[in-house]
Amino acid sequence: MKVLVVGGGGREHALIWKIKQSPRVSQIYCTPGNGGICAEPGVECIPWDGKDIDALLGIASRIHPDLTVIGPELPLALGVVDELTRRDLRVFGPTKAAAQLEASKGFAKEFMRRHNIPTAHYAVCPNEAELRAALPHFHGKIVVKADGLAAGKGVVIANNREEAAEVAMEMLSGTRLGSAGSSVVLEEFLEGEELSFLVLSDGERIAPLVPAQDHKRVGEGDTGANTGGMGAYSTDSLLDHQMQEWLLTHIVRPVIAGMKAEEAEYRGILYVGLMMTARGPQVLEFNCRFGDPETQAVLMRLESDIVDAFEAAIEGRVSDGDFKWSPDPAVCVVIASGGYPSAFETGKKISGLTEADAVAGVKVFHAGTGRIDGDMVTTGGRVLGVTARGATLDEALQRAYEAVEKISFEGMQYRRDIGAKAVKK
Ligand code: AMP
Ligand code: GLY
Repeated sequence: MKVLVVGGGGREHALIWKIKQSPRVSQIYCTPGNGGICAEPGVECIPWDGKDIDALLGIASRIHPDLTVIGPELPLALGVVDELTRRDLRVFGPTKAAAQLEASKGFAKEFMRRHNIPTAHYAVCPNEAELRAALPHFHGKIVVKADGLAAGKGVVIANNREEAAEVAMEMLSGTRLGSAGSSVVLEEFLEGEELSFLVLSDGERIAPLVPAQDHKRVGEGDTGANTGGMGAYSTDSLLDHQMQEWLLTHIVRPVIAGMKAEEAEYRGILYVGLMMTARGPQVLEFNCRFGDPETQAVLMRLESDIVDAFEAAIEGRVSDGDFKWSPDPAVCVVIASGGYPSAFETGKKISGLTEADAVAGVKVFHAGTGRIDGDMVTTGGRVLGVTARGATLDEALQRAYEAVEKISFEGMQYRRDIGAKAVKK
């Protein structure tokens, strides 16, 4: 079968690496892809700007794939699944209505309130008057979130009401994030460990993936600005059986049933971002897709055919045993351009990739890379996701960092403490 993968990040490289392992797949297309994806044998890349949905539909109509897999949130939020389905193409991912769980934080919060799903106290503020009325109800640190999609830049943790008001006003006025900030959500600040819990759903039934933890801050020790994610690890000890059952009963199943009841049936990957607080797990956010860089670590542990799982979701026959996992932990260390997540330069020549890939248990997934005149060069903020599996988390980390040290480009940065907290425990 022919498979089309939409996207061009580390997540899509990991998806393609896994899809390629399916004996049922004969040809893979990716749009737009990146330097590493396009260098994979048997993968053909097609240019695309990442935004123009008509152009994307044109590409899909031309290729006529047997299966399309959508990586990023933007095409999902713009309704590409609805459009491809209308054209009789089989596609993996939620509809536009279902993708609202990620595309509007206000929608997600009100949905959680309607269905009694544990989440931080909040106020949705579509204008300054409501913002001023809501602020006195918050104490201490306040989390300010733009309602719309903001590529990881839509959340600010303010130290007090004055700071929160300032940031929220910048969002509401459009100077900070454009239309994504035309409504804001204020949220109580929660403390605890974060957890990324992902499930596959066909709209009714679910199959959980193995748990992962992201490292959102740019600096070691979880300091500095929020990023798209500087690294992730996946190990079973992040989530015991009893807690997994609790999450399924109190969060995942009510979400899937609630979406169905509201006529926005949820098919695809549901990513639940959680804070494990003293008063129990609380939902921070939903994503309507695989996480990046969690996917790189999680898929390193997947031993069953991912194409079968996608089809089960499309055909409404997901079951608990759809995934077979290795017990071995995996870790992904992101190498980013100097300056990221603020301004950074691109076009830096990358060396050491072959040597890094040769380290036992390691796969280097590409994100912001491209090939120019035979050289692999940087094209984005997050450049590579050096991913490794090992018999223990320690071994996975040793392998990943051994590979990281073989890679170099001007200005590269990475965190040396990915998974460190878990090893200490
Ligand atoms: P979100 O996109 O909503 O997941 O927010 C991005 C990041 O901001 C999360 O991964 C957390 O690190 C942090 N965050 C979001 N909401 C809260 C909250 N209510 N309390 C503390 N930290 C938060
Ligand atoms: N790693 C967080 C995300 O994909 O949104």
